[in-house]
Amino acid sequence: MDEPSLRGLIQRILLSVFVVALFAGSGGFYLLLRDRAMRQAEQEARILLGSAIAIRDYTNGHVVPLLTQLPAGSFHEESVPSYAAQTIFRSVTGMASAYTYREPALNPTSLNDSATPFDVDLIRRFRDDRALSEISGVYDTGTQKLFYLARPINIADAQCLACHSEPARAPAAMLAKYGRDHGFGWTLGETIGVQLLTVPMTQELSGTLELVGLLAGGLLLIFVICYFALTFSLETMVVRPLRLLTRAADAASHARGGDLPMPTTGVGEFHQLADAIERMRVSMTKALAALNHGKGEGDAAP
Ligand code: HEC
Repeated sequence: MDEPSLRGLIQRILLSVFVVALFAGSGGFYLLLRDRAMRQAEQEARILLGSAIAIRDYTNGHVVPLLTQLPAGSFHEESVPSYAAQTIFRSVTGMASAYTYREPALNPTSLNDSATPFDVDLIRRFRDDRALSEISGVYDTGTQKLFYLARPINIADAQCLACHSEPARAPAAMLAKYGRDHGFGWTLGETIGVQLLTVPMTQELSGTLELVGLLAGGLLLIFVICYFALTFSLETMVVRPLRLLTRAADAASHARGGDLPMPTTGVGEFHQLADAIERMRVSMTKALAALNHGKGEGDAAP
């Protein structure tokens, strides 16, 4: 097996550090930014859902009481909380399409409020788990990603049943407009639909990817610079001087090499080593000379 060269060793260490740093750094950064984008979207969705609820409350508290002054049996959809909230938010959606507010129901009064398969799934989850008060997440429409926040609509007030229990109890004008086939038969305590609010996420998520790309690019640049700086200084300060010293030491072991160049660059330790090798060469030369001299005298003796 080949022993790794110093240069190869450094290359391998740098490369492994780089790969680990790139994956851990970019991955961690991505998760952090994604989490932040999610929290921001959630905050935005919560504020907007709060305003939808405020519109509902306003209609209930301020508009419905006025109806009592109108002739009995008259009906204006403007007095329906769901109508007010959804109509106002349709204007918001008109300005920015990813911001939507809907009140889909399994058995809706207005067919505009029919539940999509996605809505049905949400409503079923709320119906199955009465303790569940909220569901949120990211929804991919195919063209964009939306953050959604959903809350159940429970029939908590018997007043709702005036228009949603049996057609016979509902105002005639309402039946004329919405028909008598749907939006009835709701019962007290039942979860009949959801409040569903969406805010855009596509931009936030692609912004996150852009930032992660920038970070990865920055890391790559730093590592390329480190790689060249380290291999260059390693070559001039360690590898080359070491090669000269090896040659000098090899020559010295044969008591030769007085004319071999000694490294002039390199870390301080090499200068001490060069001195030591020079001393060794000198002693070795002297010792060998003495030995040869002794041998010559011995040979000359009778
Ligand atoms: C005066 C009659 C009336 C009353 C009272 C009433 N609603 Fe409605 N509701 C309607 C009408 C009409 C619509 C359809 C509005 C539209 O065109 O968007 C509707 C729509 C809804 C919707 C949207 C889904 C759908 O069916 O189209 C929900 C949810 C809803 N009502 C819940 C309630 C709740 C909860 C109460 C009690 C707090 C209540 N309603 C009281 C008439 C009424």
